[in-house]
Amino acid sequence: PETGCLSIIVLGASGDLAKKKTFPALFNLYRQGFLQPNEVHIFGYARTKISDDELRDRIRGYLIQGKGASSELLEEVSEFLRLIKYVCGSYDSAEGFQLLDKEIYGHEFSKNTIEGSSRRLFYLALPPSVYPSVCKMIKNYCMNKSDLGGWTRIVVEKPFGKDLGSAEELSAQIGELFEEPQIYRIDHYLGKELVQNLLVLRFANRLFLPLWNRDNIDNVQIVFREDFGTEGRGGYFDEYGIIRDIIQNHLLQVLCLVAMEKPVSLKPEHIRDEKVKVLQSVLPINDHEVVLGQYKGYTDDPTVPDNSNTPTFATVVLRIHNERWEGVPFIMKAGKALNSRKAEIRVQFKDVPGDIFKCKKQGRNEFVIRLQPLEAMYMKLTVKQPGLEMSTVQSELDLSYGQRYQGVTIPEAYERLILDTIRGDQQHFVRRDELKAAWEIFTPMLHRIDNGEFKPIPYLPGSRGPAEADQLLERAGYVQTHGY
Ligand code: BG6
Repeated sequence: PETGCLSIIVLGASGDLAKKKTFPALFNLYRQGFLQPNEVHIFGYARTKISDDELRDRIRGYLIQGKGASSELLEEVSEFLRLIKYVCGSYDSAEGFQLLDKEIYGHEFSKNTIEGSSRRLFYLALPPSVYPSVCKMIKNYCMNKSDLGGWTRIVVEKPFGKDLGSAEELSAQIGELFEEPQIYRIDHYLGKELVQNLLVLRFANRLFLPLWNRDNIDNVQIVFREDFGTEGRGGYFDEYGIIRDIIQNHLLQVLCLVAMEKPVSLKPEHIRDEKVKVLQSVLPINDHEVVLGQYKGYTDDPTVPDNSNTPTFATVVLRIHNERWEGVPFIMKAGKALNSRKAEIRVQFKDVPGDIFKCKKQGRNEFVIRLQPLEAMYMKLTVKQPGLEMSTVQSELDLSYGQRYQGVTIPEAYERLILDTIRGDQQHFVRRDELKAAWEIFTPMLHRIDNGEFKPIPYLPGSRGPAEADQLLERAGYVQTHGY
């Protein structure tokens, strides 16, 4: 591992993302010894005029959340908070960033960076509208200056644009200032345990190699459900909608890992090359294979216009035009304010030819990977019903992580991804051409939704979403299975 001074600069330090995700992830890394107090310093930067202590007070509660408040933990929290310094400034002011640079340099000097390298990680927990100006400021005033090596990296969060044009513009602006290996585009789904497991599952198990194709698989579903609405984020959400918020990024990334060919090696570039090929093979979306919904009461939010056409639910069938997947529907489904909170992948196999047991009615083999909550993988199989009769029943081969890996803590997505950034591993980050290919798939449809050509169907909060989505699922070939 690299040594030397590490400065982590959280821009937008007083915002929601920083408080809820970035600082808690940094704290967890600190507790596990990945951030050493003799090397690391954390800087918060934002416009709000507050002191170091005020920032620490704002963060403290989020670090403790869900952990119980033992005196040991509180001591660790205090030690961690002492590593944080606050710098106040605006996102386009030279003075602010010069001051920030001075503070970082002071820290590097005090840690004898002269004898080591200087590593500077800028985490932009900010709205994308300020990315270009912030990147320019970092480039002009805050780059690593050590002659002894080190690096400057920036981490950015979605939304990366609103469509192909705006995403390309943003990429070009950032690309003028930083090289691709310095840019870490976070899609936090790539940091989830079971998403990371997909490559291992597919390419380290002989079992799946011959089955994973159009000859054996009938359809694939990638599903995201939340049992709460846009709560407090109505303003943001209404501008984006469920396709931009979830499907174009999180679910599409999962689709890439489910559908891609085996990469040449585990090198980030090899993996990302294969993901791009999948995205480029997706056919234009067919209008008949889209159902949009909006939950009743969505427009009651004062930040949402009364006549909003924004979908809070969507089912979209994607079709991959290649040798492996021709004819297999990939059904992407995402919704807010539904009846449960769950994210899962369901790979449904074809019927058994020459079905002598007449078990078709019970359903097909289905391999389910539950990303959350309660990580699990299970395979639905038809087995003999135990007993004297020769009848069949559907049961499950079940690998539930909670039972199988008792006592193992599954790290938070953000924790892993920040550690990857420090280590310089871009495998789980979105490359520029990947982003472009992802926007190419959805942009034509998004423009038509924005123009009001597609109308979302109202659905009741707490329901399964519009009934039309279930009908689409059936038309795409999905068969409901009936378990034991
Ligand atoms: C975010 C979306 O990217 O992901 C949110 O903007 C959504 O709308 C969240 O709630 C879901 O993340 P997770 O990890 O809770 O599934």
